Amino acid sequence: MDIRTTVSESPRSDSDVAAILANPGFGIHFTDHMFTVEWTPDGGWHEARITPYGPLTLDPATAVLHYAQEIFEGMKAYRHADGSVWTFRPEENARRMVRSSRRLAFPVLEPDDFVQAVDALVTVDQRWVPADAAGEKSLYVRPFMLATEAFLGVRPSQHVTFMVIASPAGAYFKGGVKPVTLWLTTEYTRAGRGGMGAAKTGGNYASSLVAQQEATGQGCDQVVFLDAQEGRYVEELGGMNMYFVFADGHVVTPETGTILEGITRSAIIDLAGKMGHRVEERKISVDEWRDGVASGEITEVFACGTAAVVTPVGRLLWDGGETKSPTGEEGGPLTMRIRRELVDIQYGRAEDSFGWLHRVV
Ligand SMILES: Cc1ncc(COP(=O)(O)O)c(C=O)c1O
Repeated sequence: MDIRTTVSESPRSDSDVAAILANPGFGIHFTDHMFTVEWTPDGGWHEARITPYGPLTLDPATAVLHYAQEIFEGMKAYRHADGSVWTFRPEENARRMVRSSRRLAFPVLEPDDFVQAVDALVTVDQRWVPADAAGEKSLYVRPFMLATEAFLGVRPSQHVTFMVIASPAGAYFKGGVKPVTLWLTTEYTRAGRGGMGAAKTGGNYASSLVAQQEATGQGCDQVVFLDAQEGRYVEELGGMNMYFVFADGHVVTPETGTILEGITRSAIIDLAGKMGHRVEERKISVDEWRDGVASGEITEVFACGTAAVVTPVGRLLWDGGETKSPTGEEGGPLTMRIRRELVDIQYGRAEDSFGWLHRVV
């Protein structure tokens, strides 16, 4: 892609950026620029550009506003101690976006173009990548694709826009990693057979909100979804995949098909394998979870995703019951070891033996 860059004439001052990076929160502040490329049937992908960050002007009939033809990705750029800036397996995000685009009837943006777009934006806005490895700060990068044809007919949009924006992110856990309490929803599901569960599309998150509200109302941190067909098998959280550690050392993660195939999940399959743990991708029922924790056969439960890396899971609550927490306040030993190993690779403190890191700056 040929990317035309128009540098902002009114970027945030260095002192403003420093103040934001001192306490970035999540998804609140945005960098000075954004990347855009557009697609039409005749022109293919064209007009790749980096421009000052700013609002979009959309016709009220724009298809995405009505039929939710939209997909996105989530990834981070990390600053290493020597000042260099890296992303983690960006080609995996690119490939997942290709899979999402097929499911949502979008044109395909080639993975190389996706990675080039992310690199270009992170390079232009590199001063927004926090230098605070110990605090686990990063620059969150949000690539997304939307149906931008102004047309109310229900069919794939003939005008598509792919954009990348970026937002500095603070550590997910403030004051140390703590197990989360989960709510098991028996009323709502996030994905059915043939549905969109494996795609990273806004509709899945819209449909999870009421279930997350229910979880919060029950005093829980996050919601867990079960399969839609039988209501027995654990799928994932609203924004994280799940892992179960067994007493004999093997680990289980729900199989794919209706879940979002996380890049962290896939890294953990490799990492746990390298640490000598057998990894099974299979169905795991909520009964096996409850009974396994009760009997001591399941010794650790954790969730994983780009935002939190790895989160220990404590109690699971549902309407009329609960499991006990498999771990104490610190999270289980394998959970915390995998977490540390991943974070150390991301911040350049451990050897990247899988070749997961991609240098941007
Ligand atoms: C529904 C869902 N599952 C799992 C994940 C974890 O995926 P990743 O490890 O690629 O962040 C996410 C996060 O993006 C998610 O939204």
